[in-house]
Amino acid sequence: MNELDKAIKLLKDGDVVALPTETVYGLAGSIDSEKALRKIFAVKERPFFDPLIVHVSNTQTAKNLAVSWDQTCDVLAKEFWPGPLTMVVKKNETVKDVITAGLDSVGLRCPDHPATLDIIERLGSPVAAPSANKFKRTSPTKKEHVLKEFGEEVFVVEGGESRVGIESTVVGVFSDKVEIYRPGMITSEDITKALNQHGISLPVNVVQSPVAPGQLKHHYMPKIPIVLSWDNQSPKLDSLNIDTSDLAQWHLTSEPTQAARKLYNFFRESEQEGKTAILISLKSSMKESPQWAGILNRLEKAKSFEIHS
Ligand code: TXA
Ligand code: MG
Repeated sequence: MNELDKAIKLLKDGDVVALPTETVYGLAGSIDSEKALRKIFAVKERPFFDPLIVHVSNTQTAKNLAVSWDQTCDVLAKEFWPGPLTMVVKKNETVKDVITAGLDSVGLRCPDHPATLDIIERLGSPVAAPSANKFKRTSPTKKEHVLKEFGEEVFVVEGGESRVGIESTVVGVFSDKVEIYRPGMITSEDITKALNQHGISLPVNVVQSPVAPGQLKHHYMPKIPIVLSWDNQSPKLDSLNIDTSDLAQWHLTSEPTQAARKLYNFFRESEQEGKTAILISLKSSMKESPQWAGILNRLEKAKSFEIHS
């Protein structure tokens, strides 16, 4: 039996499987299996208040899970699916409460990865999938990361290194606005532009979502401390009370799509190489650019310390 057939069999039997996506690897279970959905939370050690994203292989399936699907959803799906955009819309009664943490909305996304699209299609059911890491830890962008995280407990489908590298942009879609709950590599500008091209003019703003409880203060953290250094040539680390004897350093000046792709792998490699801490140098001007918003959001949550010039 090949890998994809095995994954489909496990999912049909109500088990969980780690699947590659273009953003990060996900820990998937069929949305029809209460057993699989519960196992996702157990394996991740994730609290039930944190809702899961439902992954579909086409837009029609997404529509079937929503109470309504307006033109804004249609345009965003046409422009960005398959791709790193999750749309939160009002759910209908077919979506189980365990998926949405009891909320009346559901996050929907069509991932851009051929193996995973094929699995969802042939399974005949969407899959709920959070990132395939223990709760609050760094998301995996390679099969080996998932194996390191869960060991033999979880079957992992090989899908190469994730192309995007950080999680999808999560948006709430309303009749009068689009709200960005979690920034990502599809930016507010990209969304505004796509809507405008279809004659839709709505405000698109980043909000601190009260309904996205997964957006915790500390998240994406490796096991060694991360220090963010803003606009410093030679940051002073003495006062931080951490072991700086063997630092992993990264001057974040490269182009954002490259930086996003490498980010989590850098966290994990630094940890694995036995580095004592990670020092990331940034420029505060990056805060003005939507292209950096997703990366800065992850760094803010993964950091232990921050030093300003
Ligand atoms: O790129 C991604 O989105 C990856 C891959 C595997 O698709 N998945 C991912 O899932 O990052 P997860 O569970 O680690 O993060 C999903 C976040 C939740 O923490 C929550 O903040 C938000 O999406 N979310 C999901 N459903 C929501 C809802 N109904 N309302 C508001 N926010 C929701
Ligand atoms: Mg996650």
